[in-house]
Amino acid sequence: MKTSLMLSTLALLSPVCSLAEEKPVPLLEAPGRDLVQSHCITCHSLDYPRTNSPFMDRKAWEAEVNKMISAYGAPITAEDAKVIVEYLAVNYGVGG
Ligand code: HEC
Repeated sequence: MKTSLMLSTLALLSPVCSLAEEKPVPLLEAPGRDLVQSHCITCHSLDYPRTNSPFMDRKAWEAEVNKMISAYGAPITAEDAKVIVEYLAVNYGVGG
């Protein structure tokens, strides 16, 4: 009984471990992906938006992108930011 529980836990964990491999982070194909890819990779890995996705809703993404712009000086226009927030909220957000 205990063993089978451990095995299923391992099976659940293994896909998470493979995420740690060093390779380019593929983002989901959707409108706005090119903007996210070109803007957000200039300072850090595209893994950042992805790792944060389990607890980010639209408001949180909006705040996050604004923080990248105002606190860290990301050169993203208001227009691009809208598209980026939309993309992140739909593809990497909770609750749409
Ligand atoms: C001008 C540089 C710059 C750009 C461009 C940039 N970021 Fe960041 N980002 C940072 C820095 C600096 C940090 C915090 C330090 C760290 O952890 O590396 C950070 C951290 C983050 C984090 C982790 C949570 C946090 O607030 O620390 C997320 C998520 C994130 N960025 C998302 C994005 C997204 C999405 C974009 C594209 C819209 C983006 N970043 C573009 C500089 C940037």
